[in-house]
Amino acid sequence: MPESRCLQGIWSSPWIFIFAASGSAVGLGNIWKFPYVLGENGGGAFLVVYCLCLLLVGLPVLIAEVALGRTVRSNPIDTVNDLSERRIVHPAWVLVPWLAGITGFLILTFYSVIAGWSIAYLDRAVTGEFNNITQVGASSMFNELLATPSEMLLWHSVFMGLVVLTVGQSVTRGLSAVVRILLPMLVVTLVLLACYSMMIGNMSEALNFMFRWSWQNITFDVVLAAVGLALFSLSVGMGAMFAYGAYMSKRMSIARACSIVVGVDLLVALLAGLVIFPLVFSFDIDVQAGPSLTFVSLPIIFGNLLGGQFFAGVFFLLLVVAALTSAISMLELFVAWLHEKFYIARLKAALLMGLAVWFVGIAVLLSLNHWDSKLMYGLNLFELLDKFTSLILLPVGAILLSVLVAWFIPRSMLQNEMIAKQTSHFQWWYKTLKYISIPAMIVITLAGWIGA
Ligand code: TRP
Repeated sequence: MPESRCLQGIWSSPWIFIFAASGSAVGLGNIWKFPYVLGENGGGAFLVVYCLCLLLVGLPVLIAEVALGRTVRSNPIDTVNDLSERRIVHPAWVLVPWLAGITGFLILTFYSVIAGWSIAYLDRAVTGEFNNITQVGASSMFNELLATPSEMLLWHSVFMGLVVLTVGQSVTRGLSAVVRILLPMLVVTLVLLACYSMMIGNMSEALNFMFRWSWQNITFDVVLAAVGLALFSLSVGMGAMFAYGAYMSKRMSIARACSIVVGVDLLVALLAGLVIFPLVFSFDIDVQAGPSLTFVSLPIIFGNLLGGQFFAGVFFLLLVVAALTSAISMLELFVAWLHEKFYIARLKAALLMGLAVWFVGIAVLLSLNHWDSKLMYGLNLFELLDKFTSLILLPVGAILLSVLVAWFIPRSMLQNEMIAKQTSHFQWWYKTLKYISIPAMIVITLAGWIGA
């Protein structure tokens, strides 16, 4: 499709893709999920595995999604339908984008609840509730929030409202301008906080934990956790980046743009780790605390910091905006599809999808208190969705999508898409995807499930 005919418009400059894709990548995955998964899986060795996963699985799959998106300039569902009508692929492949859309939907149901926690903490930050808080105080503040469904519902609703309003606009509008300001501010704030945290916390033990390699505890389920986190953090495995690729200008090298996105994503995650772990070790917070880790550690740093109220306000505001720029990419697939296929106005489509997510989100937040029954494997609905999407849906989605791109889409179609003079990039990517990423993802996912 010629660039001018794309329904949703094209990014006006190549850099806008980088900002928008980084906006989708950087979010709660970096600041909430990365530290707690690193904590649960033993630190240093996990980090090495995670970096390998980013490079050998995350990056190639990211490039695949973006390249396919740019080739066809449409939403994933129509794309696969179109390819099957042209007899390039079997019609059964249309299940893949549907699975992807459902994955995004499910992730958003709990993502919005956690983003709601961030708004709740923004509220507490500006009213000075972190001042001189102790570790016990910080834990009970978090537990109180979990035990108050009405407050969680309020902030979950506010966040979903923001998501609907943002997705209701065209994604090309405004997003990159926001991310362009947000990202540098987030990085600078995290650097400052990391310095302070290392001053007041236990720096040596934190560095030891994060960066010392010890291979004993590496099992397949740890590696699967790393793959799941890499996919989650880069927003790949469910066609979200596909949409961003569809709006990308042909002038940009996909490989270079995606490498920058991976770099930014890792940087933010590492900085979040450097903020949180020094506190974890000096205030005796359980490294394995799980999803509460970030929300229990952060108030302590702000409560002890000179001007902490101001920093806390800025930080949680940035976190909410970062969550918003990520969340919109989860709804984009269905919204773009409803808009392009049925000509439903974007805002209406976003409202429809948003309401459904909001509704399921209520069950998710209730599963943290009133409905705290363990559904399966000792997990409640919130934990189940978190694990199910990261450890099952995203890896399976990434495998299927990669197999589709690497083995079924004609090579020439993709090759035209990667800028001609960068043939070496193409070869490198194509071979890695085919012979390293796909087999590795299959082995790791199966072995992880069996619990090898
Ligand atoms: N990457 C985002 C984060 O780190 C979350 C996210 C946005 C996502 N879009 C996604 C995860 C699509 C998986 C799939 O917070």
